[in-house]
Amino acid sequence: MSNKCRVCSSNIKEFMSLGEMPIANAFVLKNDSDKQFFYHLKISFCEKCYTFQLIDIPKPEQMFNENYAYLSSTSSAMIEHFSELSSKIINNTTFSKNSFVVEVGSNDGIFLKNFADKDIKHLGVDASKNVCDLAKEKNVKILNAFFNFEISKKIEKNYGKADVIVSTNTMHHIENINDVVKGMANLIKEEGIIITEDPSLIEMLKNNAYDQVYAEHMYIWSLTSIKNLLSTHGLEVFNIENNEFHGGCSRYFIAKKNTKKIQNSVIEHQNNEDSFGIKKISTYLKFKENVVKSKEKLTSLLKNLKSNKKTIVGYGAPAKSTTILNYCKINNSLIDKIFDNSKTKINKKTPGKSLIDVVDSKEFKEYKSDYCVLFAWNHRKEILLKEKEYSNKNGKWIIPLSNIEII
Ligand code: TMP
Ligand code: ZN
Repeated sequence: MSNKCRVCSSNIKEFMSLGEMPIANAFVLKNDSDKQFFYHLKISFCEKCYTFQLIDIPKPEQMFNENYAYLSSTSSAMIEHFSELSSKIINNTTFSKNSFVVEVGSNDGIFLKNFADKDIKHLGVDASKNVCDLAKEKNVKILNAFFNFEISKKIEKNYGKADVIVSTNTMHHIENINDVVKGMANLIKEEGIIITEDPSLIEMLKNNAYDQVYAEHMYIWSLTSIKNLLSTHGLEVFNIENNEFHGGCSRYFIAKKNTKKIQNSVIEHQNNEDSFGIKKISTYLKFKENVVKSKEKLTSLLKNLKSNKKTIVGYGAPAKSTTILNYCKINNSLIDKIFDNSKTKINKKTPGKSLIDVVDSKEFKEYKSDYCVLFAWNHRKEILLKEKEYSNKNGKWIIPLSNIEII
């Protein structure tokens, strides 16, 4: 049976496999390592609509459930980032006290809190109950559901159409993406704005950041591919901003077709993607080659250090680290433990065959190690500043991607 593109239904085929993978955020309780779910991480690129996507993905319930471990509010930079986005929305001339803001994938309420605090009408929709409960603690109004066209009609009936719909780090999660975009197109007012933000394909390819790819990131969007997706629902991108979060994200400002002037940023970004070769399969085959090289480099470095009696730990257990650890077959014979500040991960083990203990990052300063793999490499600035004593005491950081930098 041939595989079909989730966006345009064309036939797609695998160009790369990262092997058997557990769910990236399914951190393992001490005695539960034999109860894990695995899937085969196979990657494809649609040569018709240019969507970079996984071929097989687990059922949504395997990924987004009461144990969803990713909490947006673990990084102070992210809290600041979302507060800045909310100010930008509130300060826009078209925004008023009566505006209605909907967030699709509201996580622990990190973004909508900024609206709840100001008594602005809002609603968060999220599929994972545990993060909904955390959002409610912040007085954020929440609907615990998978957003889709049906849910958009329910929201419209109960609250009216939205002035702004925001969805950050969610568009890459959703298998039935056409149903979600149809729901957004239905729920947004004629003059409203949809803002989405996701890891950027061009940045991922440039940084060789293959750890962005796992079941919850079943697509990595580019302007080229998202334009194709939106177009069938009467929507278009009129502005784009790029930032460094999650290793390089693009924020797309979307509106109903022909309602907003297309800004130069969109034309420039499109030119960048075209000259980078975003539509060419050869670009992806080169990426594959680089990923294999990066795996060989990282594993031989860690093995060499270990045979020289060096102690190695890790810092940050993001979902991304599950891809690196399982693809490179790194386990607790190489890395003693990983330090992290998420209460949903501490005292558990990293998913899959890696099974490395995750411990509170407060203990990092006390634990003697020679090398520390910075799995949360996208928070490099924040973590290196917080843990500068480590470098002062001769500890070395390893950045596990591309050329495997040691600092
Ligand atoms: P993220 O890149 O998906 O945001 O995940 C970053 C992970 O790193 C998350 O599990 C929290 C952890 N982390 C720390 O432990 N300490 C820190 O200072 C920061 C910024 C993140
Ligand atoms: Zn396609």
